Amino acid sequence: MQQRLIAGNWKMHKTVQEALAFIQEFAKLAPQGNQVEIAVAPPFLALHAVGQSLGDGDYPFKLAAQDLFWEEEGAFTGEISAPMLKHLGCHYVIIGHSERRRLFGETDEEANKKVHAAIRHGLSPILCVGESLQERQAGRTSAIVREQALRGLQGVSSEAIQKVTLAYEPVWAIGTGHAASVVQAEEVHTLLRTTFQEQWGQAGQEIRILYGGSVTPENAGELFRSAHINGALVGKACLNPQAFAKIIHLASPIPQ
Ligand code: 13P
Repeated sequence: MQQRLIAGNWKMHKTVQEALAFIQEFAKLAPQGNQVEIAVAPPFLALHAVGQSLGDGDYPFKLAAQDLFWEEEGAFTGEISAPMLKHLGCHYVIIGHSERRRLFGETDEEANKKVHAAIRHGLSPILCVGESLQERQAGRTSAIVREQALRGLQGVSSEAIQKVTLAYEPVWAIGTGHAASVVQAEEVHTLLRTTFQEQWGQAGQEIRILYGGSVTPENAGELFRSAHINGALVGKACLNPQAFAKIIHLASPIPQ
């Protein structure tokens, strides 16, 4: 397994100026070296400035976008394409976040088109999956998560799958302060791992599976003791440079 990935999803936070101030502050606190891979996903408007500051400072952080549209260009008012992100220096793109599914009606089919567009243009997709509280209570967690992952990644070759990262983000844990327990997360990560191996063989073994949902400096250490948790997609806590840096410090190499 590769090194862990800790990605900060800023969601709709920070102006360009605030974004640059964050990067300056965070750069002083983030661990040096490459034990853990770090990515930041500011809003679209701040990508250019943050990308330039990452380049200038030679910081070891990668740039990620929070979404994309699957067409390359055309009359799609308000949308952003994969080539546009690639030219800004983006490495990752988050796809199918539950907020996009819930608030903007995005489907697995759309997530799948976005995954293919990202791969076509040399971006690495971070596909998000996760069940709602009602689905969990109805005992449908495994079915929902498996379905979202397989539909979202449908048609991805075993060569291309190596570019994909999956993020398990239970909807009930996002922004609630109630993270999944290690046992709950491991249960789903193990299921996803088996599913990926069935589907893509050895390549499926290498897909990183991140956990997301109320990850904080307080609970990250425990989550990262699990060898099944290959990193984290962090929301609220990544907006604070101290908290984000602390989480990264806790994400030591994956235990064997
Ligand atoms: P929180 O860490 O704020 O719960 O958000 C998680 C998330 O949605 C990351 O994509």
